[in-house]
Amino acid sequence: MIAIDGPSGAGKSTIARLIAKELGYEYLDTGALYRAVALGLILLGINELSSDAELIQALKETKVEFSKGLTLLNGKDVSQEIRSPEAGHYASVFSAKIPVRKHLLNIQRDAALQSDLVAEGRDMTTVVFPAAYKKFYLDASVEERSERRSLELISRGFEVNRDKIRIDVIERDVRDSGRDIAPLKRADDAYLIDSSGLSIDDVFRKILDIIKKNSHKK
Ligand code: DC
Repeated sequence: MIAIDGPSGAGKSTIARLIAKELGYEYLDTGALYRAVALGLILLGINELSSDAELIQALKETKVEFSKGLTLLNGKDVSQEIRSPEAGHYASVFSAKIPVRKHLLNIQRDAALQSDLVAEGRDMTTVVFPAAYKKFYLDASVEERSERRSLELISRGFEVNRDKIRIDVIERDVRDSGRDIAPLKRADDAYLIDSSGLSIDDVFRKILDIIKKNSHKK
């Protein structure tokens, strides 16, 4: 188990995917789970002010799973929909709710029982997989993360207002790091990798070198 945390736009998914491929592990994109749950909750009329009881009821009707590389919400492929800025926003909002985090905790741990994983998100190293073999905290400057997020959205066909994206990145940092439950933070035993000014390949090599050191453990 390799666990990677970090803020929005730090390059976690690109790197996690590459590392998983290199090691022959599965890649677990936990942001996709939060995004799909958020979509499901919105469809059921849940909002930020809904009570925990309403959330718990709605979560019973919200089945999220990965199948053949797709993200499914109640059996429907939502792999594209979850990439919208709105889905990201609501994922961040609902991920601060205890029932949502509880709902997804077992799904994530169950995935680790099926195969070796490179898991990335906000609380992989601190809460979900604290005993991971190697832990990383991937960071980059706000400027660089905003630019990467903009380019990613453009490549997916979304219209982008760069100022808005920058504000969104900053707001998400505050919300994801400031929440009471499982906030984004660097675990004491996580390697800090600042990818500002580094290429994807640089970051990939750095992380792989660390993983391969003392690689008798899993
Ligand atoms: O990594 P991402 O942008 O797809 O994540 C979307 C939101 O989901 C993020 O802003 C916070 C939440 N999230 C979380 O709270 N915990 C995780 N392990 C992954 C994502």
